[in-house]
Amino acid sequence: MTATNDFIPITPYTHNIEKGIFQWSAPSNIALVKYWGKRDDLGHQIPANPSISFTLNHYKTITSVAFEKKVNQDNWSFDLLFEGQPKEEFKPKIQKFLERIAPFMPFLKDYHFTINTQNTFPHSSGIASSASGMAALAMNFMSIEKALNPEMTEEYFYQKASFLARLGSGSACRSVKGNLVVWGNQENIEGSSNLYGVPFSGKVHSIFENYQDTILLVDKGEKQVSSTVGHDLMHNHPFAERRFEQAHENIDQLIPIFENGDLEAFIKIVESEALTLHAMMMTSMPYFILMKPNTLQIINAIWKYRNETKTPVCFTLDAGANVHVLYPENVKESVLQFIQSELVGYCQNGQYLCDQIGFGAATL
Ligand code: PMV
Repeated sequence: MTATNDFIPITPYTHNIEKGIFQWSAPSNIALVKYWGKRDDLGHQIPANPSISFTLNHYKTITSVAFEKKVNQDNWSFDLLFEGQPKEEFKPKIQKFLERIAPFMPFLKDYHFTINTQNTFPHSSGIASSASGMAALAMNFMSIEKALNPEMTEEYFYQKASFLARLGSGSACRSVKGNLVVWGNQENIEGSSNLYGVPFSGKVHSIFENYQDTILLVDKGEKQVSSTVGHDLMHNHPFAERRFEQAHENIDQLIPIFENGDLEAFIKIVESEALTLHAMMMTSMPYFILMKPNTLQIINAIWKYRNETKTPVCFTLDAGANVHVLYPENVKESVLQFIQSELVGYCQNGQYLCDQIGFGAATL
């Protein structure tokens, strides 16, 4: 198994490069089994339980990093542009990311970086871009490292990219490679690691190909409680230990479900996971609720529609009020009709986003 120290280069880079530029896109992802709670005693962003997610396709961050050798190598220096314009507000997050990855990227202080980033999600959609943003950034820094050390294997390249993305934002490590990605040590998933996400290596039924995710934008406002605070409240949480075990059990149960395509069983686990995540929030101290009345209206409408039509459609939630509606491609037309006639009224300004499973980061 790979350990944190394996990501520190031990020999000097073999190539010397004055300047260059790379550009990567990385998508968002939606967890089926949720990561909620960290093991701070084991390092930065180590999950308290394993998680598994669908990688999304259309909604992504596109980031380029230009780099040029500089004279003063005392500290790192970078400019941050959002859609081509300087964006000072984003700089502290990038600064923190660079501090975290510095021990693993000895070249950081040799260059000045110009980071230019943009999202494909509509402006102010309330969709968090930290997973896609940190993944896209990590890919670019790995491309620079590979240019300095071209002998690097592809396996190391992607593992370390996911490792770096994790240091930026935990779930970002699941946005690097693969359509179903596991993050966190899981006994029955070979190669799984707390340090980086790995593509799920088991058999996957064709029903999951092009699986659809329609994101209903219920509330686009700023969240009252950040994920960082939420994760932290799992320390000394009365149900935490049982919850962490349950995540292992749910992943175990999903392994044969991915193979046999039993959507009824899939739905039970996915919806239970979403409600468990929010139950953990409601039973934290202090407690909090991120769902809104319309979140519950949508859930009830999905249950009613599923009961009446037997369509295998279900919901999941991330740490917010928006609802991800998940369904196989073969019922796309009827589900979209249902969403337009029954659910759009619960969305803020009638807004929703259509996405589907994708394969991770791509170089442009
Ligand atoms: O990566 P973070 O720290 O933003 O946490 C993400 C937590 C959830 O989205 C709620 C669950 C998950 O596994 O993505």
